[in-house]
Amino acid sequence: MRIIETDEGIQDELTVEAFDIFAREMRDKGWNGVNEMIASGIKGGDLLELGPGPGYVGLELTKKICVTSLTGCEISPAMLHVAKKNAAEYNFPASYVLGSCMKMPFENESFDTVISNGSLHEWENPLQAFQEINRVLRHGGRYCITDLRRDVNPLKKALVYHATRPKEMRQGLVSSLNAAYTLSEITELLRHSELSNAVVSSDFFGLCIAGKK
Ligand SMILES: C[S@@+](CC[C@H](N)C(=O)[O-])C[C@H]1O[C@@H](n2cnc3c(N)ncnc32)[C@H](O)[C@@H]1O
Repeated sequence: MRIIETDEGIQDELTVEAFDIFAREMRDKGWNGVNEMIASGIKGGDLLELGPGPGYVGLELTKKICVTSLTGCEISPAMLHVAKKNAAEYNFPASYVLGSCMKMPFENESFDTVISNGSLHEWENPLQAFQEINRVLRHGGRYCITDLRRDVNPLKKALVYHATRPKEMRQGLVSSLNAAYTLSEITELLRHSELSNAVVSSDFFGLCIAGKK
């Protein structure tokens, strides 16, 4: 059974600070979903990132594929602040908007690409978020959502737990894993959504949902 972790994102300033250090390390190791997103066939254009946190995933994509504009939709004001600071480091004019992916503050068909990493397990109603992704995507647009998966073997969990830095993030990793979906749970949810043609795959520690509108 999933154990819900939060439905209001990462709000606490200290956790946000520790998460920024953690996310920077994930970026440097190439473990933040960027390679999987590119391999899934996303093309860039006007790109929306859901739950960008410190922003590294979308910002790295601006260096690797042809991104015309980058918009982040984030529920936590403290994370928005960090993402804006990091975007300045990348020298990319990203725009970060306070909002929830269950009710995105965007017009229909505003984006060519929608991505998200590590956020899905925090979404209060993923089905609603999937409908919103479909709504804000242009025809022919692509999406790729990567996240942890709960059905990972315990040995891998222990390995990743001990490798997680900073140490303050280890408890968060456990609660995120407990809140994450299994491959079959997410496949079933997608079947009832407007993203029913999505391809779901799993890897060492996570899952990847990708498709085209
Ligand atoms: C575990 S962090 C991942 C951050 C980043 N994507 C990464 O890979 O480093 C999850 C992020 O999703 C945000 N979030 C959670 N629920 C959200 C929602 N309903 N709408 C928008 N953002 C949300 C959290 O505040 C947090 O910044």
